[in-house]
Amino acid sequence: MSLIPKETVDQVIAQADIVEVVGDFVSLKKKGQNMWACCPFHHEKSPSFSVSPAKGIYKCFGCGKAGNSVQFIMDVEGTSFPEAIKYLAKKYGIEVPEEEQHPEFAREQSERDSLFIVSEFASKHFQQRLHEHEQGGIGQSYLKQRGLSGNTIRKFELGYTLDEWSDLTDAALKAGFQQKYLEATGLTIAREDGKRYDRFRGRVMFPIHNISGRVVGFGARTLKPNDKKSPKYLNSPESDIYHKSNVLYGLFQAKQAIRMQDMCLMVEGYLDVLSLHQGGIENVVSSSGTSLTEGQIKLISRYTQNITVLYDGDAAGIKASLRGIDLILENGLNVDVVTFPEGEDPDSYIQKVGDTAFKAYIKEKAQDFISFKTSLYAEESKGNPVKKAEAVREIVGSIAKVPDAIKRTIFFRSCSLIFDIDEQILISEYNKMQLQDRQQPKTGNNYEPAEAPHEPVAPEKQDSDVDVLKRYEREIVRMLLNYPDRVLEEGMTTCQYMSEQLEDVAFRTPLYARLLELVKEKLSAGVLPTAEDFINYPDQEIRTEATNLLSDPHELSHNWETHHIFVPRETDLLPYGAERAVLRLKWRNVELLLKSEIEKLRLVTDPQEQDRQLNSIIMLKTLHSQLGDMLGIVVNK
Ligand code: UTP
Ligand code: MN
Repeated sequence: MSLIPKETVDQVIAQADIVEVVGDFVSLKKKGQNMWACCPFHHEKSPSFSVSPAKGIYKCFGCGKAGNSVQFIMDVEGTSFPEAIKYLAKKYGIEVPEEEQHPEFAREQSERDSLFIVSEFASKHFQQRLHEHEQGGIGQSYLKQRGLSGNTIRKFELGYTLDEWSDLTDAALKAGFQQKYLEATGLTIAREDGKRYDRFRGRVMFPIHNISGRVVGFGARTLKPNDKKSPKYLNSPESDIYHKSNVLYGLFQAKQAIRMQDMCLMVEGYLDVLSLHQGGIENVVSSSGTSLTEGQIKLISRYTQNITVLYDGDAAGIKASLRGIDLILENGLNVDVVTFPEGEDPDSYIQKVGDTAFKAYIKEKAQDFISFKTSLYAEESKGNPVKKAEAVREIVGSIAKVPDAIKRTIFFRSCSLIFDIDEQILISEYNKMQLQDRQQPKTGNNYEPAEAPHEPVAPEKQDSDVDVLKRYEREIVRMLLNYPDRVLEEGMTTCQYMSEQLEDVAFRTPLYARLLELVKEKLSAGVLPTAEDFINYPDQEIRTEATNLLSDPHELSHNWETHHIFVPRETDLLPYGAERAVLRLKWRNVELLLKSEIEKLRLVTDPQEQDRQLNSIIMLKTLHSQLGDMLGIVVNK
């Protein structure tokens, strides 16, 4: 069992607000009773991920992920239950009693938890070294010289590594961490001869956080400006918790501001992020020197659709990174570009001109990406028709990446102005590309058919018997969980009605059999089960299914509403619905029994036995048609 006391777990679950918890990871928009967003667990262009504030659950109608706040953190972080509870406890300022145990003996930790914990330990250690160790002064004065305030240093949890071989490794081993986790996070390097040493030594440390604020890796800057042998920045290697292509430096600290301002600034370096943040420009992230990836763009698009890329002053780098921007366009985001004077980067520039002038500069210089790229190429190809033709192809290629047709039209127009080329020529170039692309295997995501809406699948004839039963059983459990205490007729709740009716019916789907059993248990203990009992049930499978069932109170209404057909509310028809659900299941069960009895009859040779078998079949047939009558089903005789 969990090492966290049950009272603490209960308190966390009671206090966690699903909208707040999920809202830290995606931008939720209210629509009807629920909040909606694009799902953080699978790729999609229109939102099918919903959060129900009333029920305290989330559910994605696209990929099926569902659960309460705790489950969400487990899903989004890939951590264990206790770690998710600790995360939420921290968020809500609930104290988790210290577990009196060596890290090594923590049994319930997953591999990933261990990597998170050792990274957190290292980060704390580096901060301690910066602020309290005598060598830390070197780091401190460097950061001060770079213009960083104590506040910024603390907010970004900067640290320092001593210029020694194994300061961190020794401390971590002494604290009980296993060497394998130190190696897996790249903090410790083990040589073949068994010697081990720290990867980062004598450097200023920039911990890299994932979006929930956990340390997943480090960037480390040398303090020796002219050391040709070691790189200026050393970074953590990839690990189970650190995938460079899915992390953006500064996003954890920036996400609120990005959402509020509906805009994300992209810079190249760690120092750029820190300086801008300190200057009151908090909506800034960095891809840390690598070219932008699709994963990073998806991360940003959870918070905003608008990106402004701030380029360092060296022109050489700009062209190389244009591809990365095509990727942003492909994902349907809007991209603006700002360049800085030769030799400046955002960090040096804001330090030079100050916050106010810097903000004004960005505002004034921001240019949409297509115009920027067009100007860049137009300049280059001036007076050279061959180059110009190439340039046009290049630009049209970028415009083709824009999924929105209206935006494309606008870009064609501005491109035609800058290049002084007839718009029609650009458009026919575009059409040519489209044709070529279509003949080749698919490239971008432009030509995919629109996503099909997620509608509940209608029952199909070829469904197996097991599937049909499963659907009927599910329907009964769904009603039980959604309306357990609704009174169907005098003195009879849904729970009582169902458990009475199903007294001698055994569900064939194990999951629903268990859920039904749980309801019956509660009832025989004299209490009415509630939805919360199931959403918070210790067993994950039960929890997930219960959440799913609670998310679609009326399967058909979804379908009908979109066709503007008036549907009475399910609760109005509940007595009728509950009765039919039970009848349908019984009818189907009898039918299956009948089938197997007929099967058996073929194998029986003894005449007396045959007689008995026939009688049983006749009885079942009668029952079957009675049930069918009640359901209004005409049975072919
Ligand atoms: P820069 O060389 O432009 O560094 O690299 P910077 O951010 O301006 O750093 P300062 O101002 O000299 O301290 C930009 C980014 O590229 C990555 C780092 O993420 C850096 O912030 N980089 C650079 C590396 O990963 N390794 C390197 O050796 C150099
Ligand atoms: Mn710099």
